[in-house]
Amino acid sequence: MSKPTVLRVDPDAPEIDRLDRAADVLTEGGLVAFPTETVYGLGAHALDPEAVERIFEVKDRPETHPLIVHVGDIEVAMQWSDPWSEEAQRLAEHFWPGPLTLIVPRNSRLPAEVTGGLETVGLRMPSHPVGMALLRRADLPVAAPSANPHQHLSPTRAEHVVHGLGERVDMVIDGGATDVGIESTVLSLCEDVPTILRPGAIGRDHLASLLDSVAWADDAVPDPETRRPSPGMSARHYAPETRVRLAAEVEDVVELDDSGAIGWLLLDGSSEFEPRAGDVVERLPSEPASYAAGLYAALHNLDRASCTRIVVQSPPRHEGWRAVWNRLERASTPGR
Ligand code: TXA
Ligand code: MG
Repeated sequence: MSKPTVLRVDPDAPEIDRLDRAADVLTEGGLVAFPTETVYGLGAHALDPEAVERIFEVKDRPETHPLIVHVGDIEVAMQWSDPWSEEAQRLAEHFWPGPLTLIVPRNSRLPAEVTGGLETVGLRMPSHPVGMALLRRADLPVAAPSANPHQHLSPTRAEHVVHGLGERVDMVIDGGATDVGIESTVLSLCEDVPTILRPGAIGRDHLASLLDSVAWADDAVPDPETRRPSPGMSARHYAPETRVRLAAEVEDVVELDDSGAIGWLLLDGSSEFEPRAGDVVERLPSEPASYAAGLYAALHNLDRASCTRIVVQSPPRHEGWRAVWNRLERASTPGR
């Protein structure tokens, strides 16, 4: 398999000439994977329906799953929402650039392919210096899902994109490892009450400081007439190829099982636990933001280590861990 063009761009001082090359690829209808502060995105010109369709082909993603439109400025976001509410403006001013996607009514000039036929659109202004500089140089709205095959782990490094999508992408911008490590919080402003459809680094408490009330989609009573489930909420998502199991007591797993190598994802501080010879171990900090930052890279490593399964030590059941739990539960849901 031939490889896509990989363009290294310094996150501390993005090289504008390189970003202009990438911006040209986008303008001409090509696919460019680029770093955001959360995960790498697979970008296409949002106003070019053929380019957008290629995203679905390359990811093998169902065409009804809406894409997030990435913008370099609030003013650009305003153009693609109709109406852009006072609430949206307040949230964007406070949290953008940053890991928050706002679901708002869409402007009808946005191609229907982008939103999977929905009358709403997800908008987000990422804070990664490379992603942001690219969006500003391209001066386009950029439709971008995470740059991984459908239902697989999201990429937090350029090499994850190359491994997962390879030559199917025209260009990969390598801006180093992403900081947040899990996908943005998705907040819908199209429900009776602002509703979190996907938990992320921006938690309910942060949002509640700017809103009268905030609901969780998973607490809501589903209404099949009006509520269409978000694909990020489907049970299996963000999953490695290797079977994943969550375990509160890792010692018990060793006692019950002695077939094949296990890939362990442990919390720092569980040092008394002794994996067996041949097992592979990754450790992550026992603080949720730092854990999230390393989660996908650790799972990518374990997934490539030829283990028969991955066992993840359960983190604390605490509100601050909600976004991490959401990803772990999906990764460990069997079947595809
Ligand atoms: O951090 C992120 O959000 C990354 C980076 C690349 O920006 N993007 C990302 O995109 O995670 P994707 O396509 O993997 O996930 C987008 C999520 C899905 O759960 C999708 O259903 C939801 O956002 N979404 C997008 N537009 C929506 C809409 N109009 N209504 C409801 N949910 C929507
Ligand atoms: Mg995704």
